[in-house]
Amino acid sequence: MEEKVEKIKSDLKQQLSEKRYIHSLGVMHRAQELAKIYHYDETKAMLTGLVHDIAKEMSSEELIDYAEKNQIPIKEIEQQKPNLLHGKVGAHLAKEKYGFSKEMQEAIAYHTTGRAHMTLLDKIIYVADKTEESRKGDLAAIRQLSEENLDVAVKYFLTLSIQKALEKDIPFDPETVSARNDFIHEKSIR
Ligand SMILES: [Fe+2]
Ligand SMILES: [Fe+2]
Repeated sequence: MEEKVEKIKSDLKQQLSEKRYIHSLGVMHRAQELAKIYHYDETKAMLTGLVHDIAKEMSSEELIDYAEKNQIPIKEIEQQKPNLLHGKVGAHLAKEKYGFSKEMQEAIAYHTTGRAHMTLLDKIIYVADKTEESRKGDLAAIRQLSEENLDVAVKYFLTLSIQKALEKDIPFDPETVSARNDFIHEKSIR
């Protein structure tokens, strides 16, 4: 396993900017911490965290082109904002290059938007992405909260992303609303 992690790290180091590479390592570490706390397979969480942004630095054209060539359906909002596709394209690359399982692919596919009925791995990666050590800002309280109640932390970040999109008057993916509704209705997270 150590070998696989090292191979992926060296691939990513070549493909990504330094900043994104450091972020990827941060998400890997944070995903491992959260997996430990919430009794999830630490290796799967680490690998998924490490690879989650593999497609993040592809251009809009490259993302659309990759999706079209690989039969990844492109939603209208993804046509408008191709960067949203980096999750789904990344998930596909993770399968092709590293043989990631469906569960791991899905956590990568939905790491920017969330979705209804998020799995434990989805939640770990979603929150790890936003609370890893190289992220700027005052994150101590939300880091702490994410270690006490993962659902509350996921819902907090879903709300924040919708708020930000509203403030900037930019479109947001309806998956994020579905995810948030799910936490309110099914899990009674307020
Ligand atoms: Fe991302
Ligand atoms: Fe990320």
